[in-house]
Amino acid sequence: MCQTVIGSKFDVDPEPMTRHANLEPRTYNFKPKTDREVTHDLPFGWCSDPTHLRPVFCGNAPKRFSKGDSGIMDDQGNMRVAAVGDIHYAKTSKGKLRDLFVGASSSADVLLLTGDVTDYGLPEEAAILAEDLRTYVRTPILAVLGNHDYESGKSAEVQAALESIGVTFLDGSGVEIEGVGFAGVCGFGGGFDRQMLSAWGEPLIKAFVQEAVDHSLRLGKALTNLATEKKVVILHYSPVRGTVNGENPEIYPFLGSSHLEATIDHFGASVVFHGHAHNGEIKGKTSGNIPVFNVALPVLLRTGKEPFFLYKV
Ligand SMILES: [Fe+2]
Ligand SMILES: [Fe+2]
Repeated sequence: MCQTVIGSKFDVDPEPMTRHANLEPRTYNFKPKTDREVTHDLPFGWCSDPTHLRPVFCGNAPKRFSKGDSGIMDDQGNMRVAAVGDIHYAKTSKGKLRDLFVGASSSADVLLLTGDVTDYGLPEEAAILAEDLRTYVRTPILAVLGNHDYESGKSAEVQAALESIGVTFLDGSGVEIEGVGFAGVCGFGGGFDRQMLSAWGEPLIKAFVQEAVDHSLRLGKALTNLATEKKVVILHYSPVRGTVNGENPEIYPFLGSSHLEATIDHFGASVVFHGHAHNGEIKGKTSGNIPVFNVALPVLLRTGKEPFFLYKV
């Protein structure tokens, strides 16, 4: 029987981005590199069965690594996560974020992209980003789509271009890497707390609210399916008001939704990363005291520190 696998030594593996794991194979979006030969001579963690399209481990139980054994965890058993959103890749962006990608890749074990990976949601923009990620990043990359990635009605092509080089998109789905679970969804607007929009009145208002509810439900499903103690939530829209503070209050309803916060607090998480609020604040927390970080690139750049957010989980 084949079980899902957990890869190792991402920093020295020439094919690092394909070494992901997932406890729920039905929701795992892994696609192997097209130029990879599936033979018996595969590195540890790959099943030799050519019918398998996921990284798998043939054995009776999922592979587990002890502390420091995998090369992806530090001595305390923590994973280093680099997160950034709103990189807004355009047709002219080739090489634009080289230093960011190289820095994140050398500092962290996993790179999270919290949406708005492209500027207009064009496949050409995604292809340029894919080439840069393929060139400069040597860690697994997990991502969610942002509203800009939907702009041209070609989000599927945008996603496919990035999946072709090993990026895993989360949309109501989860992935486990080295015992750390990741659940993601784009999210939607509607506002926060007592000012949150209610499903009342015109059908369009009800549809707007339902969209936010649907994203929250998909996030809840993804969190439920994770069997890990550590759970990282990846969003584009904010789940809390705290990290959008600094934006014009008139646009708060379009920056996030407390439906997301309720889901996160109900199912539990170790940390939440989101983007979208370019003028917001980095740090916030849910009502249940779960840390929330707005890692939109413009927010990070204002700090004068690294253009990616580094966090140990
Ligand atoms: Fe953005
Ligand atoms: Fe956005």
